[in-house]
Amino acid sequence: MYNEIDLDKIDINSEPPTEEPARQYYFMAKCRGWVQEFKKKNGRCPFFFTQTFGCQMNARDSEKICGILETIGYVQTDEEEADLVLYNTCTVRENANNKIYGRLGYLNGYKKKNPDMKIALCGCMMQEKGPVEKITKSYPFVDIIFGTHNFFKFAELLVQSFETGQTVVDIWEDTEKIVEKLPTVRKFPFKSGVNIMFGCNNFCSYCIVPYVRGRERSRKPEEILSEIRSLAADGVVEIMLLGQNVNSYGKTLDNPISFAELLKEVEKISGIERIRFMTSHPKDLSDELIEVMKNSSKICHHLHLPVQSGSTRLLEKMNRKYTKEEYLSLVGKLRKAIPDIAITTDIIVGFPGETEQDFEETMDVVRKADYDSAFTFIYSKRTGTPAASYEDQVPEHMVKERFDRLLKEVQEIAARKSMQLEGKVEKVLFEHQNEQDEALITGRLSNNSVVHVKGSVELIGKIRDVKLTECKGFYYYGELYGHA
Ligand code: 5AD
Ligand code: SF4
Repeated sequence: MYNEIDLDKIDINSEPPTEEPARQYYFMAKCRGWVQEFKKKNGRCPFFFTQTFGCQMNARDSEKICGILETIGYVQTDEEEADLVLYNTCTVRENANNKIYGRLGYLNGYKKKNPDMKIALCGCMMQEKGPVEKITKSYPFVDIIFGTHNFFKFAELLVQSFETGQTVVDIWEDTEKIVEKLPTVRKFPFKSGVNIMFGCNNFCSYCIVPYVRGRERSRKPEEILSEIRSLAADGVVEIMLLGQNVNSYGKTLDNPISFAELLKEVEKISGIERIRFMTSHPKDLSDELIEVMKNSSKICHHLHLPVQSGSTRLLEKMNRKYTKEEYLSLVGKLRKAIPDIAITTDIIVGFPGETEQDFEETMDVVRKADYDSAFTFIYSKRTGTPAASYEDQVPEHMVKERFDRLLKEVQEIAARKSMQLEGKVEKVLFEHQNEQDEALITGRLSNNSVVHVKGSVELIGKIRDVKLTECKGFYYYGELYGHA
């Protein structure tokens, strides 16, 4: 089991092991010695604060980093003025990077008050040369910089920082390595993300991810299944299988297995009641997967299927490898097989060369696909991607005007779709107490919609029948149904 390695039994005066994860447990034991000294000196535990930017992958990586820190003896806090602050960064769009520079300004002030404070940065933005050069030059108070491939080494880097007092920069360009069995803490006791693969091989022409997350590699099915079994034994009822393109899972393994086959195995694990996954690339979504989803009693009726654009001409320039018609026919197939499926998407507005006609094609797909919701993004030029050098960038005012039109359409369709469930009884997994109104407990339907229900905190982590009494556009109010 994770979290149960006895660090006290590790001899930290011997040489560190070369094998993983044993090497990292050795460094965790070493850091623990430092934490004990801190406690003696300050009469309290050291506190850590983490903030995660970006996608579910980053969120899961952060849970593992928090697992390392808690094993060492740090205690998590919501206060940014902590003894260790770590930002797990995103770089998919330019504004994500700007947020980090802004936050670092504040941290400098905190560090002046607490010179022993450690500041660590990791994640996708650290995989880019430009930002790392800028940080080491203009923000020299940052202690540790590491990337997406070596976050498992955090304890080792922390030891290096304690011992040398110098800025530690450790970025790997890529890796074949998948380190299993590290400690982890989960944000929610009843649901968890599970990585099934890392990296991406698709090289969509606007996207930085393949450059910062490296080549696609799948975890072995037995590792995934054993992790899910121990999560289930620990009370987890919902899992989200994570990968940049889950539909190509397993292709590069020594014993190849399809994503659909993996899902069938996950389905057999008792205790797991809901299975979600993301993200699906339309070009790899197989009939076999649709069949497995249709016959499953656990796979949620929700599919996130990024379209990016409705224009076949732009899809080709984006290197997406499907046409508008192929995408719509896939949506048709899914809706026919699973009539109550919620389909959501990602759309980029203002990709270089986008004409009014291209944009109208996107609007057409939005109407025809009848999305339950859509994440809409303004195209952001990412240095190093092919699209960054395309000359015909679209003027900002035009992009903004299209973006507003798209958002309006997406919201109208989503609101109309949500109305269809008003008055119905659906299963809800309750997740947390409502922040604005403590009498309400917030949960999610199988299709991922949010519902607020009057009830007590005992509901959290449980799945119950709920009557959706009122649709508020993007969420519902409901009542427990059929319970005494
Ligand atoms: N500009 C805008 N949006 C982007 N995405 C990825 N790269 C960019 C970019 N350069 C969006 C895509 C992807 C989502 C995670 O982020 O829509 O599906
Ligand atoms: Fe980026 Fe395309 Fe890979 Fe998704 S599939 S991470 S959009 S390159």
